Amino acid sequence: MNAPVNGKADLIIRNARLIDGTGAPSYSGDIAISGDRIVGLGALGSLSAGTEIDAQGKAVAPGFIDVHTHDDRAVLVNPTMKNKVSQGVTTVVTGNCGVSLAPLKIDRRPPAPLDLICDSPDGFYADFASYLKALDDDPAAVNVLAQVGHSSLRVGAVADLNGAASSSEIKAMRAKLEESLEAGAIGLSTGLFYPPAQAAPTEEVIELGRAVHAHSGLHTTHMRDEAAKITDSLAETFRIGREADIPVVISHHKCAGADNHGRSVETLPLIDAAMKQQRVGLDVYPYIASSTMLSPDRMAGASRVIVTWSVPHPEHAGRDLADIAAEMGLSQIEAAGKLLPAGAVYFSMHEDDVQRIMKYPHSMIGSDGLPHDTRPHPRLWGTFPRVLGHYSRDVGLFPLEEAVRKMTGLSAIQFGLTDRGVLKTGNYADIVLFDPATVIDTASFTDPMQPAAGIELVIVNGRPVWQDGAITGARPGRAIRRQQLGNFGKAA
Ligand code: ZN
Ligand code: CU
Repeated sequence: MNAPVNGKADLIIRNARLIDGTGAPSYSGDIAISGDRIVGLGALGSLSAGTEIDAQGKAVAPGFIDVHTHDDRAVLVNPTMKNKVSQGVTTVVTGNCGVSLAPLKIDRRPPAPLDLICDSPDGFYADFASYLKALDDDPAAVNVLAQVGHSSLRVGAVADLNGAASSSEIKAMRAKLEESLEAGAIGLSTGLFYPPAQAAPTEEVIELGRAVHAHSGLHTTHMRDEAAKITDSLAETFRIGREADIPVVISHHKCAGADNHGRSVETLPLIDAAMKQQRVGLDVYPYIASSTMLSPDRMAGASRVIVTWSVPHPEHAGRDLADIAAEMGLSQIEAAGKLLPAGAVYFSMHEDDVQRIMKYPHSMIGSDGLPHDTRPHPRLWGTFPRVLGHYSRDVGLFPLEEAVRKMTGLSAIQFGLTDRGVLKTGNYADIVLFDPATVIDTASFTDPMQPAAGIELVIVNGRPVWQDGAITGARPGRAIRRQQLGNFGKAA
């Protein structure tokens, strides 16, 4: 299996600072790749290769795993994935926040927030197997782990989205979910915060969670409330995990709204305590602003709102809602109403919470980028280099090895990737070569679609996808099925 034949590998990167993804101290050495695997690490002086690269002491790490994405359709329609591979991302987890492209048959514009990933009925897949097959037939540059979204199930099966699902509707959702898990979906996400799922009682999710348990899947959640009732939401999430006996991942953990600033001192100990009883994970993005659909009735906690897209007013994308409202002679809430359907960035968090959550040893990095927004939140292009360059190097929040662990080794454990996320002989060759001295995000709220600096080479399954500041066009990514993964939340 891809071992170097007669002392010759396909590619050797020499003279690198090897950061293995486990959090262990980096060391100097070479890394050899043959086919789609890592075949050597360390002092490889006696080995030669078809291609040799001198890293000149720069860092080589496992490819970054973006554990929280909305790339469900992006991987199909924009498969070279420049916004992700330019950051060093080699694997994405899709289907987050209750929203997935499959399984859903719909004949109208999907309701928000499903329209964040696809605004036309044609883009959805009636069954999960065809979604995964589309990815197999026309692969992306990155690997994909795909979840089923609870809101997508609800939109497809529940007659009155403003109420609890009936027992026959739960049965219908459960059948679709089981079929999807059998096809290779890795689990179920919820977005209990959002209109299509807000009315779903905890018991409805637990009922679906039992199907997730039966197929050894996991559960991720955009919780019901990330503001005043954040601790109630944590309790609800832990209860779902316990009663359905499934691992849970808290998505984009935050304390939103000025009244809740500082409350991560409360939430992190609650997560710590829960972890002693059950499998719990969490992810975070490195910004004080969030981004999602524009909701006129839910802007109260934000100090500033920027419009990211608007169907009736595309010209306002990228502008502050306050300016638009002033021009219209309306209140911000009234102006927001005129822009719907629309998306927005909300400045609603405190830097201290963002840093405290990011530094928490169990938190993984996930971008939550919205790839179809006209003027997206800069996290879509900047998340990983920002953690490495801004938070690790410039702010000194944690050592580089720890920054890398939060986007590789830890994520691989939480998502059951037993042969990725760590530099190890025999693992898949998902690799990023970057310059620790210069790596930085350049995407900003005013200029959000800019590739990061300092990411020099990105390899997926042995093939370069980003090199010399450009995509190579290669699309070696794989749609990874649940059946190919190990246990969630347990080291290999
Ligand atoms: Zn979310
Ligand atoms: Cu999300």
